[in-house]
Amino acid sequence: MEIREEDLKLREMTEADIPTIVEIEQELFSLPWTTDIFLEEIASRDQFYQVINGKKLTCKHNYLLELRGEIVGFFLGWAIYGEYSLMNIGVTKRYQNLGLGSFLLHQVIEKALELECFDIYLEVRESNISAQKLYRKYGFKEISIRKDYYFEPTENALVMRLDLDVSGEKMDALLDEILRV
Ligand SMILES: CC(C)(COP(=O)(O)OP(=O)(O)OC[C@H]1O[C@@H](n2cnc3c(N)ncnc32)[C@H](O)[C@@H]1OP(=O)(O)O)[C@@H](O)C(=O)NCCC(=O)NCCS
Repeated sequence: MEIREEDLKLREMTEADIPTIVEIEQELFSLPWTTDIFLEEIASRDQFYQVINGKKLTCKHNYLLELRGEIVGFFLGWAIYGEYSLMNIGVTKRYQNLGLGSFLLHQVIEKALELECFDIYLEVRESNISAQKLYRKYGFKEISIRKDYYFEPTENALVMRLDLDVSGEKMDALLDEILRV
């Protein structure tokens, strides 16, 4: 399937999107996030802002990705004092392995850079090799293991980190490579 950049639209989630996002969660995860969690994330998006000397120091992001108007993926992240945590990311099974996860990760990195974050952290199940491949491909490194962090099934989490403290040129090259759809 050919996907062009103009077919894609990234926009903030609204309450009206939650039923579709929850369906996607149920398709992708053994312990999916619930409607209440997404409601809380959207409601706290603006309350979470803290601006000092014109700089946004804390911020919650929740974005979804539309492909020709169809919701095909999403991500949620928190920026807290220069540290960006990627809380959740997913692409519907039907559209996986077409570059959309990379497109979303590109957006995450851009948003973290806009907020002048130094690094991005995430946790991933030890068995989730496809997600780990995506993260490693774009420079995330495993920094620790959280034992039995996940339930259903109980499993260790790998904690991964991407150092954003690199020269602008190097980061531009990285973003060009990520944007391959
Ligand atoms: C992880 C996820 C977001 C990747 O999305 P995607 O659209 O498939 O990603 P891309 O097509 O951009 O692929 C990027 C890289 O991921 C890896 N990858 C993607 N799908 C893969 C698969 N089925 N098997 C092995 N590697 C895979 C590859 O390394 C790929 O790079 P390559 O095509 O150059 O080899 C998607 O698989 C997903 O939603 N998984 C379920 C939810 C999840 O696990 N989220 C992460 C929680 S930490």
